[in-house]
Amino acid sequence: METVVSGIRPTGNLHLGNYFGAVKSFLQMQHEYNCFFFIADWHSLTTHPHPDNIRKSVKTILAEYLACGIDPDKATIYIQSDVREVAELYLYLNMNAYLGELERVTSFKDKVRSQPNNVNAGLLTYPSLMAADIIIHKAVKVPVGKDQEQNMEMARKFARRFNNIYGVDYFPEPASFHLSEKAVKVPGLDGSGKMGKSEGNAIYLIDDEKTIKSKVMKAVTDSGPTEPNSEKPEPIANLFMMMDIVSTPDTYNFFNEKYNACEIRYGDMKKQLAEDINLFCKPIRERINDILADDTFLERIAREGAEKSAESAAKTLREVREIIGFRP
Ligand code: ADP
Ligand code: TRP
Repeated sequence: METVVSGIRPTGNLHLGNYFGAVKSFLQMQHEYNCFFFIADWHSLTTHPHPDNIRKSVKTILAEYLACGIDPDKATIYIQSDVREVAELYLYLNMNAYLGELERVTSFKDKVRSQPNNVNAGLLTYPSLMAADIIIHKAVKVPVGKDQEQNMEMARKFARRFNNIYGVDYFPEPASFHLSEKAVKVPGLDGSGKMGKSEGNAIYLIDDEKTIKSKVMKAVTDSGPTEPNSEKPEPIANLFMMMDIVSTPDTYNFFNEKYNACEIRYGDMKKQLAEDINLFCKPIRERINDILADDTFLERIAREGAEKSAESAAKTLREVREIIGFRP
């Protein structure tokens, strides 16, 4: 069976972008592949979080993975820092990763701009740690959103380079995986761009009905079309895209027809959208809260996941050490 790996950094709660960009693929793939889904807590250290925050966020994401429907009997769920072999592979990959190529990564350049006082080596080598995460289980498919494409290219490059340097055909080149032809980009409702934590426009799976409604009612709109069938400007297109993601086709078509006939009432559309988002989030939200209250269960899942992933990682590291010329 082919192997799949993916992870999310524990920097807060999961939002609709994370769900439809990544987690939804996890849910489908767990039935068809040998899956490893992890919590990328080492990656989160680039922003120097407080230990209490790490503990809390890791626990939250674990509960949210489970509440979304990742089944620990089907997929291995684990915490990155529980598998120390990943750090060893990261070291080996870094020896063959070059400053120039790491500096050219767009997300690194963005960070240099946004946090000039904390341009640490972890940020620079983010792609080699991500590559280690993936190839340590010899994964061939990686479900991620569109924004991870460049990191995925680096992962393929590092896998290929290892094979070339040592003259082996050891690591497969991992491909990005998207559920649909086009990678989904869940939009923000604040006018332009994607939904994200750092964008400050996220609707979280844990948000209650009132919070969802207030966020959706604040969505940016305009004064409405004046020509029938006119093209939608970005804020409006985003509102429709969100509806396309969470509402039924009938609901979408209803408001789309209203728009095309210049009869759209954005207030009504937002109310409907808020209702549909709440309908989607409600059962997940309830499960998150139940699971968060069960420390014994969470502890068991983390322990079992650590054991299963460490086994897979240790096998790779034994072979890698031998290939490099170290005692196995
Ligand atoms: P955030 O934007 O909240 O910081 P991350 O960068 O930690 O989210 O992303 C975690 C996963 O969720 C990645 O696979 C990423 O591609 C996906 N993702 C995040 N936001 C979106 C979005 N708006 N649309 C689609 N996928 C997304
Ligand atoms: N870089 C990913 C993000 O920001 C998180 C991540 C770390 C990851 N390691 C990974 C995703 C390995 C897939 C595979 O969302």
